[in-house]
Amino acid sequence: MTQDIKNRIRKLAKEKNAIILAHNYQPPDIQEIADLCGDSLELSIRASKTGAGTIVFCGVHFMAETASILCPEKKVLLPRLDAGCPMADMVTAGALKERIAQNPEMPVVTYVNSTADVKALTTICCTSANSVNVINSLDAPEILMVPDRNLARYTAAKTSRTIQHWDGCCPIHDRLSPEAVLKQKQAHPEAIFMAHPECRMEILEMADLVTSTSGMLRHARESDHQSFIVGTEVGLLYPLQKASPQKRFYPASEDMLCPDMKKITLEDVLNSLIHLAPEVKVPEHFRVPAFEAVRRMIEL
Ligand code: 13P
Ligand code: SF4
Repeated sequence: MTQDIKNRIRKLAKEKNAIILAHNYQPPDIQEIADLCGDSLELSIRASKTGAGTIVFCGVHFMAETASILCPEKKVLLPRLDAGCPMADMVTAGALKERIAQNPEMPVVTYVNSTADVKALTTICCTSANSVNVINSLDAPEILMVPDRNLARYTAAKTSRTIQHWDGCCPIHDRLSPEAVLKQKQAHPEAIFMAHPECRMEILEMADLVTSTSGMLRHARESDHQSFIVGTEVGLLYPLQKASPQKRFYPASEDMLCPDMKKITLEDVLNSLIHLAPEVKVPEHFRVPAFEAVRRMIEL
């Protein structure tokens, strides 16, 4: 039954000239039918380069918006429109405008985990894979980073810049406690602890490696170490284990589950391809300035 749906999805994707992109946190069945799985940066770059007429985005709303920003001539489908990101909703364009008005000269670096109207107010975007490079590319004494306070603090510690941060966070990463990490470190003393920069600073200080989801995949594959504690959303355990079947991966905490990242099912993807809906389309008045912010990041 599941295999039948997967076959129908792949056949329809081919017939309709569609590419299926999936974030590394998506459920295993979704990752298996995708043309490309990746972190936010890899997926944005792939979306900007595809020759396909339709992009089916298996992730959350801001990711489909980013694809629409980069590829206005393509149809971008998000199989479940209610797959959102609580962190992206922690900054609104109205609130950001007020903050910018207080210091119009200060560059604004916006994490891609944000809505298109917020990106439209931004100097340049960043992801968890390139925030340090992005900050270093700016020639300004002080920079505002939105919406993730944890990514901003991590980036500030890695650069010599003064960074003001917005008070947002990813609830899934922010709730990882030092006690939970300590428990896993005691249970697996030989394991390397990898943490995502969306975790709190006290967690990052306990980590052997701080990187994006694809950074973790690369490191686990290439490292001589055999076991790893994974400080990010639990969906990443599937591609980690698949890429390195002989190695051991332990979640830093079973609590790190993002419900929005689990909403899309195979049936949703199939329906999306049949009806070429639901579509995410960013209006031109937001898209043009947001495109500049995303383009500057990709060009870096
Ligand atoms: P990356 O895959 O870019 O590290 O992003 C993590 C994330 O929280 C996406 O929602
Ligand atoms: Fe948003 Fe966090 Fe879920 Fe990623 S894991 S979609 S940042 S709430």
